[in-house]
Amino acid sequence: MLDPDGIRHHLADAGAWEIHVASEVESTNDAVLTFSREKGSMGSVLFAEKQSAGRGRRGNVWSSGAPGSDLLFSCAVRPPGPAASWSRLTHVTALALKRAFERYPPVRPLVKWPNDIYVKEKKVSGILVETEMCGTNHGVAVIGIGVNVNGSLDDLPSEFRSRATSLRAETQTLINREMLAAHILDHLTESLRLLPGKFHRVIEELREAHYLLGKPLRVRLGQGTREGIAIDLGPEGELIMETHGGTRLCLSSADDVRLISRPEW
Ligand code: BTN
Repeated sequence: MLDPDGIRHHLADAGAWEIHVASEVESTNDAVLTFSREKGSMGSVLFAEKQSAGRGRRGNVWSSGAPGSDLLFSCAVRPPGPAASWSRLTHVTALALKRAFERYPPVRPLVKWPNDIYVKEKKVSGILVETEMCGTNHGVAVIGIGVNVNGSLDDLPSEFRSRATSLRAETQTLINREMLAAHILDHLTESLRLLPGKFHRVIEELREAHYLLGKPLRVRLGQGTREGIAIDLGPEGELIMETHGGTRLCLSSADDVRLISRPEW
């Protein structure tokens, strides 16, 4: 089991986060949200070895390997500025994960807009940011992160196996989870500091690591779908795509984003 002192030991700033570890919870996001709503708990982080109801975006299930093999955790942070800019938290977290995984060569992480980290063509990590207004003038934000670290991919449900990878599989090395957790938290501290004044730097770096860039894709938006080519990221992290006929779409969210072999036009 992860040891909070072991994580603290590897942190650049041991006082930056208040670390807790649980053997099992339903969802670390739910636990941290509940706690933050009641007590306020900025800077608290809860790691769990197992989640009985781990959640991904859009109501998807988040499955992980055997207890002791992956990282599943949530961090309570102060939401930045006005509610309209809270989506920045997902991009800032993606940057932190990208930077943390780059410390494990030959891993070359790319960000599949907006909340997945890919290595080669497979997902290694996902982000679920949840925000809430408490009363009229303050909000809580929880950043949930799942990373496939040392787990056997055979432990994942078959529908995920072909689309997932782990840091161990990519490096052929058993990863020290406490050190990795500390690297992620350090990079998160650093990238959160880029809010709000230097957010353009987040976007600049994410552009360089844009998994979808130049690829044909289909996005689901409510009842409809659109196809096109991803051509850029917007200043707030929007996905910019060009559709048939050269129309540009600027999407701040989508229900599903999938690569396709070629657009149907
Ligand atoms: C996604 O890929 O859609 C996001 C996955 C986020 C999973 C993490 S695991 C820790 C935290 N607790 C949850 O219930 N979900 C997030």
